[in-house]
Amino acid sequence: MITGKYPSLRLRRNRKAEWCRRLVEENNLTSNDFILPIFLIDGKNKKINIKTMPDVYRYTLDKLLYVVDKAIKKGLPMVALFPYTDKKKKNPLGTEALNEDNLVCKAIQLIKKKFKNEIGIMCDVALDPYTSHGHDGLLKSGYVLNDETNEILVKQSILQAQMGCDVLAPSDMMDGRIGEIRKSLDKNGFKMTQILSYAIKYSSNFYGPFREAVGSKGLLKGDKKNYQMDFRNSHEALREVSLDIKEGADMVMVKPGLPYLDIIRLVKDNFKIPVIAYQVSGEYSLLMNGIKKGFTNKDIIVESLVSFKRAGANAIVSYYADKLDKII
Ligand code: PBG
Repeated sequence: MITGKYPSLRLRRNRKAEWCRRLVEENNLTSNDFILPIFLIDGKNKKINIKTMPDVYRYTLDKLLYVVDKAIKKGLPMVALFPYTDKKKKNPLGTEALNEDNLVCKAIQLIKKKFKNEIGIMCDVALDPYTSHGHDGLLKSGYVLNDETNEILVKQSILQAQMGCDVLAPSDMMDGRIGEIRKSLDKNGFKMTQILSYAIKYSSNFYGPFREAVGSKGLLKGDKKNYQMDFRNSHEALREVSLDIKEGADMVMVKPGLPYLDIIRLVKDNFKIPVIAYQVSGEYSLLMNGIKKGFTNKDIIVESLVSFKRAGANAIVSYYADKLDKII
């Protein structure tokens, strides 16, 4: 690998000026690398800030098209929709997930009607925005039921596909759900609807602000450790990915991002499938608060985002996606 030695070889020569550093750069960010998460809320003409996530908002549907239009103009390939669900609409079964008039369904239709194929729409498949206990599936004696939850996730997937969702993103970590969803999509004529599996989703302490954003924070009973992955493990992550690929996933997600760069690299080296990293809410809040308090400068954002590319991610779900022109 090394073809010379000091003093004839000086690696600092290629770093001597900015033009040269640009010339030899190995990784960079473009707008194609980003997916913008958008939080939705019922009501009219509102843009509500989220306490724990500076500069991130929940939008009512009448403001949504403006947000999506901006995303298109910035060249982003896809947005991800997340609903804040009113407490009154939550119950233990999360039935609001299957309501064809729910926020996500209405949002998909609005976006598709106006923008057609100008931008992709990704939707979470999971029950946590809709359940009164805050879990991603059906709860029985403190345990989240697998197969019974899958039945509902399949229905939620078909509904979202019918509305026009391009990419279904099961984020629930039930076993076997990718296969069930794929089978049902094909049977129902949605052969081209993609599945981005949250194949590797760790039971993480970095999701706190998101749970505030979708209104499931105070509700969560216990933790999600009996379905989301143990952060002490990495071989298990490879088993998850290999199963999901066999079951029909088109892309896989690694989540959270920054503390799991080793996992992104591991997946990329072992499977030749697009890998998406999710820079989650807790990462965003930590960076933003550090910047706002002056503990660090805003270049820390680019540094952390480039690290995802260096680790092998094809794209990044990031709350910075709509703020890139100010960053890169
Ligand atoms: C829910 C879901 C979560 C996130 C995306 N989908 C939270 C959780 O599993 O509790 C987290 C995103 C973030 O923290 O930014 N299935």
